[in-house]
Amino acid sequence: MAVEGHTLEFCLAEEADFEEVMSISGDVYGGIDYLPARYHAWIQDSVRRVILAKKKGQIVALVSVNIVDDGHTAVVEGLRVAPLERGKGIAGLIQGYSLNLVKDQFPEVKVRRYVRSGQLAPEILTKFRLICKQEILSVQFKAEDIRPKLEAAFTWLKESGKQWEDPVLLGASEAKRLFLSQRVVDEVLPGKAIIQDWVPYKPLESNLEKLVSQDFIWMADDKEEPTVLSLGTAPYRVPLGTGYHRLNIDIFGKQFPRARNQFLAQLQQRVSTLEGPIYCLLYFEPSIWQDMLSFCQTTLELHKDRDFGGQNLLEADM
Ligand SMILES: CC(C)(COP(=O)(O)OP(=O)(O)OC[C@H]1O[C@@H](n2cnc3c(N)ncnc32)[C@H](O)[C@@H]1OP(=O)(O)O)[C@@H](O)C(=O)NCCC(=O)NCCS
Repeated sequence: MAVEGHTLEFCLAEEADFEEVMSISGDVYGGIDYLPARYHAWIQDSVRRVILAKKKGQIVALVSVNIVDDGHTAVVEGLRVAPLERGKGIAGLIQGYSLNLVKDQFPEVKVRRYVRSGQLAPEILTKFRLICKQEILSVQFKAEDIRPKLEAAFTWLKESGKQWEDPVLLGASEAKRLFLSQRVVDEVLPGKAIIQDWVPYKPLESNLEKLVSQDFIWMADDKEEPTVLSLGTAPYRVPLGTGYHRLNIDIFGKQFPRARNQFLAQLQQRVSTLEGPIYCLLYFEPSIWQDMLSFCQTTLELHKDRDFGGQNLLEADM
């Protein structure tokens, strides 16, 4: 394939490409890029393809396609094009190449899914089905500064009778049982999806098996009849600054007080073992945006860091 007269070559990413991939990723997601933390595991994963585009031997783009949902869904992730090469159609070309490769190697795949941030242009909705939308609140703090604020928030909520109920920590088998239960799937999960740090999974036994084997924190407001559940991904380092960790907390459910309680309990678990600066991304139901924002601002003295314009789960047929 040719871009501006130069041939574009495609290949699978290897360990030795890491530094060069990082060199084209400097501005990606404003310093909170997850790829440095995931690259090494991604290229080892047998149900994932990490594809590079090269021009005159230099890496100019990367995309990854992850096969989930019993082999029926291709999740497209990590797309990036070198800054000087943007606007030339390379993102479209590398995605086209990767989807053809996936069709060849994983013929069972029926749909492709993307989780994209921001307002969607109307033409996107002519190409994709919008499955669901979550809000994103991003806040920054130091672990040592947030610990006393959390303690104060717990005390205040418990004493003021503001609908505090201790969230329940779920073990692997409880998390599987609850996230697979039909009521949770129909009434709690957005678009019947479990979104874990931007990766959408259908509530299927095989996905849950994979998810519960990782270092995640699973919580619910109730072990029998949950109305709010949450999933905290293990913190990982990001390029934003020295010692920065990124923390992702996905919350599912529509009731603000219970979602707030999950947020506080997830945060408390993580910051008890962390030090230094943290960039925390909290994902939740759009209808509770204002309540969550006000709570963070007034009680925790945390301020929205940047506006991501929401998280959209999109789907199209292969
Ligand atoms: C977004 C980005 C990859 C676009 O690269 P580009 O080469 O300038 O884009 P193109 O010239 O190919 O034009 C747009 C094409 O990319 C696709 N695209 C644009 N943004 C996209 C996104 N966020 N996710 C998936 N595809 C995207 C468009 O659908 C279009 O494809 P089409 O030609 O099949 O319709 C590039 O600006 C970039 O690397 N930004 C920083 C990283 C980033 O934000 N990545 C996206 C989030 S995963």
